[in-house]
Amino acid sequence: MSAELDPLLDATVRHMQELKARGERYVNVSPETLTALAQPPPPVGAAPLSAAVMRATPAVVAAAPPVPAMAAATAPKSLSSAPASTTPTDKVQAMAALRLRAQACVKCPHLVKTRRNVVVGVGDPNSPLLFIGEAPGADEDRQGEPFVGAAGQLLTKIIQTMGLSRQTVFIANILKCRPDTPGQSSGNRPPTEEEMETCIPWLLEQIDIIQPKVIVALGATAVKGLLHNPTGITRLRGHWQTFRGIPTMPTYHPAYLLRNQAISEKRKIWEDMLSVMEKLGMNITEKQRGFFLKAGG
Ligand code: URA
Repeated sequence: MSAELDPLLDATVRHMQELKARGERYVNVSPETLTALAQPPPPVGAAPLSAAVMRATPAVVAAAPPVPAMAAATAPKSLSSAPASTTPTDKVQAMAALRLRAQACVKCPHLVKTRRNVVVGVGDPNSPLLFIGEAPGADEDRQGEPFVGAAGQLLTKIIQTMGLSRQTVFIANILKCRPDTPGQSSGNRPPTEEEMETCIPWLLEQIDIIQPKVIVALGATAVKGLLHNPTGITRLRGHWQTFRGIPTMPTYHPAYLLRNQAISEKRKIWEDMLSVMEKLGMNITEKQRGFFLKAGG
């Protein structure tokens, strides 16, 4: 996107935030705009956002949270993986364009009815490290950001213990909308196979944009959705897999650690993260190597 479009994008984001702050959940979108938003993005490294999307006035885009990728500018430590042919700006722009299109997605009418937000993802599209979870829960649906509830706070701690932050990795889910729970006032349900199949193209596009060096699949559903591997997570975790040529580490979902606080289980997920750090060529301190080896560690 050329620099002169930046103020337009900033104004659009500001306008959306104002609408959201006023409690607006829906905006009017013309059929032409919906069609434009549904177009695939230009290949990474190619042209700017489609002119049709940029012609859209602020009020035609679903009320959206700020583009989290922009937080990368203030990230404490960069882990940039952008290959020479793809500039960091290309990836940020491609992810922003995908976000707009995903927020207009209506492929699962039953989920469109109950969702508050399409939870697209958060972090740095230039990161070499992509975490993939299952689906947004109630907190994520409310805030429009993945992994912000109790399990998310634990994931954030794990990421920080690796010496990283939510701004220097990318976090997404297999499903972008919260699975509905008809007749229930609380609780979550796992996505169905059909929902996962319908939604997975968004994630595949995200993976194509990010081109991460390593993927971490969090929990059985993420593993099933990505790898279609019938082996249970207990046996598969800790063993490198490959997804679209990318080394992929299956590990426990942080929600499992909330249910089972045994130090031996914490050590298992931590060992998986040490493998990830090694694969990324990160410096690992002795202190980091020793976490959860003994009580209080
Ligand atoms: N669990 C997930 O798998 N994803 C989230 O975003 C939140 C909880």
